[in-house]
Amino acid sequence: MIYLDNAATTFPKPPSVYESVMKAMKVYGANPGRGSHAMAIEGARIIYETRELLAELFNLDDPLKVIFTFNATDSLNMAIKGILKPGGHVVTTQMEHNSVLRPIKEMEKNGIENTIVKCGPDGSLNPYDLEKAINKSTKLIVTTHVSNLTGTIFPVEEIGEICRAYKIPYLLDASQSAGVLTIDMKKLNISFLAVPGHKGLLGPQGTGALLINSDIEIKQLKEGGTGSQSSSMEHPDFYPDKLEAGTHNLPGIAGLNAGLKYILKRGTESIYSHEKKLLDIFITELKKNPKIIIYGPESLEYRSGVVPVNIEGMDSSEVANILDREYGIAVRPGLHCAPLAHKAIGTEKIGAVRFSLGPFNKRKDIRAAVKALNEIAAAGENTK
Ligand code: ALA
Repeated sequence: MIYLDNAATTFPKPPSVYESVMKAMKVYGANPGRGSHAMAIEGARIIYETRELLAELFNLDDPLKVIFTFNATDSLNMAIKGILKPGGHVVTTQMEHNSVLRPIKEMEKNGIENTIVKCGPDGSLNPYDLEKAINKSTKLIVTTHVSNLTGTIFPVEEIGEICRAYKIPYLLDASQSAGVLTIDMKKLNISFLAVPGHKGLLGPQGTGALLINSDIEIKQLKEGGTGSQSSSMEHPDFYPDKLEAGTHNLPGIAGLNAGLKYILKRGTESIYSHEKKLLDIFITELKKNPKIIIYGPESLEYRSGVVPVNIEGMDSSEVANILDREYGIAVRPGLHCAPLAHKAIGTEKIGAVRFSLGPFNKRKDIRAAVKALNEIAAAGENTK
């Protein structure tokens, strides 16, 4: 199989990730923070070390403000619902995934208004439009870093500056950028960073984190056991326990630990540069075929390794099925849980075939995808 669906989850992971998951399950798989025996202590050590690795990668001072979640959706819900209160207003954009749009829509029922800023047909955001959407009640700005549909890189530096000027916290959804683009929370003025563990960070599914670089309170959405202050019926109000109730996903976090070590060793610049080289070949080759429509920014400077395409006159699901069945190429067709983003690029009715690159893709994968698309386009033409 040629795997080009890394925006959904990366595959494969580095071998150290698989080994680390197995070790957590087979060697020290006790319940961290719930006992004082050697196995529980080793689990707790791995969990703390993983907080440190995340803090190092995203330049956050306090590893205790790294909250483990089950995915980026979990992190985004935690921040959006934990920060906003009735009478508040939130600004977001048309390119967001449903993991941002749906919690915000749900919050309307609690009297929290929102403004969804329109984006360009290439998925780009004009920061000035975002600034215009701010009002006196605005309590949060939420944007993606990279669109999961078009790969468009958002102007996060400018957005961070706007947030600084208006003293509004900035929640960044780094689902498609964490582990690929360099993210410095302090430099970019990011108050809250939502990351999945299983995409660019190369960990297992069922892992994610919310990193907190702000004193604004996040009200917890659940209470329960934390292994701390056990004599009290009140949930602890210190991080990370405030936002982490119940047993951790230790095997998942151990795998994420190994993924983070891989990224810190190889470097995000090197990973991004690898993906950009492949992206360049892919787009240059596809542009030669007039039957293939490519969406997203024209310049590679504003695009990460995500490329949605359509073949003229063909349904995106049909193309993806042929790629899977006849060429062994894995991609994602359809609407990608980002309905408004499809409206921005004009594919809300037809969807798109999304190719997404990962750190282990090779030039031959790209050449195979180009060849397959050209052949499918030619065959489609012949059957008309
Ligand atoms: N959000 C993931 C995607 O874009 C699952 O495919």
